[in-house]
Amino acid sequence: MEHTIICGETTEELKKMKDGSVDLIFADPPYWMRTEGVLKRVEGTEYRGCSDSWDHFDSLEEYEKFTESWLAECYRVLKTNGSFWVIGGMQCIYTIGAIMQRLGFWIVNDVVWHKKNPTPNFLGTRLNNSHETLIWATKSRRSRYTFHYKTAKELNLDTVDEEAFEKGKRKQLGSVWKIPVCQGNERMKDEAGGKLHSTQKPEELLYRIIAISSNPGDVVLDPFGGTMTTAAMAKKLGRSSVMIEIDPRFCELGRKRVERTEFEDSPVARAAFDKKPRKVTMSEMIGAGYFTAGESFCLRDGQSAATLLPDGKLLFGGEVMDMHSCAAKARGSAAQRLNGFDVWYVLRDGKPVSVSEIRDAYRASLEEL
Ligand SMILES: C[S@@+](CC[C@H](N)C(=O)[O-])C[C@H]1O[C@@H](n2cnc3c(N)ncnc32)[C@H](O)[C@@H]1O
Repeated sequence: MEHTIICGETTEELKKMKDGSVDLIFADPPYWMRTEGVLKRVEGTEYRGCSDSWDHFDSLEEYEKFTESWLAECYRVLKTNGSFWVIGGMQCIYTIGAIMQRLGFWIVNDVVWHKKNPTPNFLGTRLNNSHETLIWATKSRRSRYTFHYKTAKELNLDTVDEEAFEKGKRKQLGSVWKIPVCQGNERMKDEAGGKLHSTQKPEELLYRIIAISSNPGDVVLDPFGGTMTTAAMAKKLGRSSVMIEIDPRFCELGRKRVERTEFEDSPVARAAFDKKPRKVTMSEMIGAGYFTAGESFCLRDGQSAATLLPDGKLLFGGEVMDMHSCAAKARGSAAQRLNGFDVWYVLRDGKPVSVSEIRDAYRASLEEL
């Protein structure tokens, strides 16, 4: 996998990229926080929020112009079936969302990142601002975007109790994600040991986005790289990345972070939970020795009902038919066809074993090859 960091102004650099060349974009742009004066904690110490020069704009018009320029380029470089994610706070997300819709983006979901440990509202003048919003969008309503539904369920750790989780129970991942703000060892330090970046995003957030909406080997683009959280998580998950960042210091320290990060092979990284099982036929399994032509197919009670023919069809009451139509007949169902793999059993060591279980064993043997 390749990991590229481009040090430059994002719209200028995006313009150099080819149309439809990336699979997934995650953008964490300047929020235009409009910070003024010095903010003090209750005990009097100074709170360092985001007052960086890159977050300064003179007017809404200027912010809109900037936002439209990089969003339009992102739209162009995104593949037809790619995914676009953007994060923002209350200061900017409505502006960004409105421009996105004007440019043609189709909104799939908005996700609330509920911060488990938000910065308090020191003055007690309004609600504690404990979330940010993410917009997940595609290029059009018809885009056939990647969504690893089962992987998303697997990453949803907080919705079932521990015992149920151990038993493999999972719930659908919803649109409120409880994730702590970036902290501890994850926080990148500057040369003096202080906080390197004012708005570094938590790895878990990016891990989730990349795992559920891209495939192994895909190209992930981040037009506002910062500390390169996106590249680090792309590498961890076996995707390539292209990062753009205007500040050479972040580019340099971020490059070291990506170099330190290793690929971690896992079912989540491989999107293994969502892999569609390979289609296999009865005649193929007869050929592989998993079934024998002439053997009896029975129902769950072990009562013999049909005979397996060499081409995988069944002989039932003097009639030759496929296993699914035969399953419906043998069960006396009103339906024309039932899933024969679930209905039929064969005797192994005198005991009925489901045909579906034998198919699983055959599929597993194919994966080992
Ligand atoms: C909100 S931060 C991104 C933080 C990043 N997601 C992380 O986890 O570290 C935005 C970044 O975009 C960079 N930036 C701001 N304006 C830019 C521009 N016009 N072109 C390229 N980078 C820009 C800033 O230097 C800053 O590092």
